Amino acid sequence: VHVLYSTRRYFSIPELSSESVWMKDRQRVEEILQSMSKDGSNTLQVISDFDLTLTRFSYNGKRCPTCHNILEGSNAISNEARQTLDDLLHTYYPIEIDISRPVEEKLPLMVEWWTKAHELLVQQRIKKDELAEAVRQSEARLREGYECFFDCLHEHAIPLLIFSAGIGDILEEVIRQANVFHPNVKVISNYMDFDESGILRAFKGELIHIYNKREGALLNTGHFEELRSRPNVLLMGDSLGDLDMADGVQDMKNILKIGFLNDKLKERKQSYMDSYDVVLVGDASLEVPNAVIRFLT
Ligand code: C5P
Repeated sequence: VHVLYSTRRYFSIPELSSESVWMKDRQRVEEILQSMSKDGSNTLQVISDFDLTLTRFSYNGKRCPTCHNILEGSNAISNEARQTLDDLLHTYYPIEIDISRPVEEKLPLMVEWWTKAHELLVQQRIKKDELAEAVRQSEARLREGYECFFDCLHEHAIPLLIFSAGIGDILEEVIRQANVFHPNVKVISNYMDFDESGILRAFKGELIHIYNKREGALLNTGHFEELRSRPNVLLMGDSLGDLDMADGVQDMKNILKIGFLNDKLKERKQSYMDSYDVVLVGDASLEVPNAVIRFLT
């Protein structure tokens, strides 16, 4: 206990010493932070997942909705469709978080989930002007500390890329309603395609699902080219697929990966600690990312 305490004391960021922050290699985290700090905030870019990373996993013991769930819970779709989407969630979500199955086996099943859900949403002839109300009525919540997170990045002109396998139109509405959709925010996600009367007819472009963020990143070279002078990356995610979000970053120097471990802590602890530099457990707030940003600015 004494040894643990003394190593903890040496951290430049006191928030990293909390019990709910797990790190496999504290020394390495400290080195990355020092190197990034020396380079200054004009070399930093932030890349974050959205659902259950920037938003909460649960509130008062109840699961919080993802972008897809916001639509599913709204009046924009029929009761029958809601039931089908709920059945899909119960079939595929356990597969998404099952660490005993290799990614190669899960990947086609994830494509199947997203495809079925998007087809069903299109059949529902959702109207563009129903989305804002669906978000207002939903229980989606950005994590505590979100104002500071978005506002600090904006204030210091640090680009924030939100890279989401959710639904871009819904995600934008969530951050717009929270008054944090600042000009430094760019979104890569699945966007809805509406016909001239504002009815959903398809989803645009290539499907982004939980395990193809690497391809998504490589399709957006223009964005990363613009940010070439920012080789230091703060990455935030809640799934192991999110680790690929920075694969398009050019001339990367340092990357600090912060992972939110929301569910199945015991089973997934080791794999998260092996993959993320810093693991935040128990529906954490944005206190740690905010402290890191403060340290780097
Ligand atoms: O923003 P992020 O990349 O995390 O969005 C993907 C999330 O959306 C996944 O965690 C998945 O559980 C969820 N999802 C959903 N309903 C679908 C497809 C995905 O809730 N039909």
